Amino acid sequence: MMNVLSSTSATQLAVAHWNESPLYLSEQERYSRYPWLYEAAEFRYHQGRRVLEVGCGSGCDVLQFAKHGAKAYGIDVTPAHVVLARQRLMGLAHIIYADGTRIPFASESFDYVFSCGVLHHLDKPREMVQEILRVLRPGGRFNVLVYNRWSHVPLILMLKHGLKWRLWIENSTAPVHIELYTLRKLRAIFAPIRLTIKKYECYHNQKLGQFIGWFLGAKGSKPVS
Ligand SMILES: C[S@@+](CC[C@H](N)C(=O)[O-])C[C@H]1O[C@@H](n2cnc3c(N)ncnc32)[C@H](O)[C@@H]1O
Repeated sequence: MMNVLSSTSATQLAVAHWNESPLYLSEQERYSRYPWLYEAAEFRYHQGRRVLEVGCGSGCDVLQFAKHGAKAYGIDVTPAHVVLARQRLMGLAHIIYADGTRIPFASESFDYVFSCGVLHHLDKPREMVQEILRVLRPGGRFNVLVYNRWSHVPLILMLKHGLKWRLWIENSTAPVHIELYTLRKLRAIFAPIRLTIKKYECYHNQKLGQFIGWFLGAKGSKPVS
């Protein structure tokens, strides 16, 4: 594959990390592990609309948009994930090897942009936010999920692994850039766009997810003018 990377070290770390240990869950595994995700991502509500997932990984979520009738596209910067996503999608959605800070689509060409677990791996996250807003049509909506700093997960990892707890956040201990978000930081990155933010994910008791959840889900829309 031709190199499409922005030159940041965070992107290079991400590619090395997920090429070494690609993340693949079946649909059954993913939505029983994250029971809130189906509604939070709004998979069912974009029939006939153009939907883009930025950082689609091995394609489980982009498949759900496609199954529910969206014209679905996924981009990812890790070649191993692009291969897995194309195998999973079998042509139901377009999967493109691309960087979220240089999205290879025309301005105002999508109705909805979704991204789960990606923005916190960027060292220049505003560049991805600007690209998401560029490719959305006026009035189009975005839905971006990132890790929450004030969640139970860092505490548990610190108790288990001590000072090197950050290495244990992802699916292997190969280093990867991770920025944990507060509500304030998330709002600042999207400013002046207003966000509706919800917390999700507490494996042992999902009701607690709304208070100490590991994910912050930020929804908003591109101003009409
Ligand atoms: C934790 S995985 C999440 C994958 C998928 N969204 C999910 O929820 O399973 C992070 C993904 O972000 C991708 N990624 C990291 N930086 C990226 C960038 N600058 N542009 C596009 N994708 C990126 C990685 O390649 C990886 O597939």
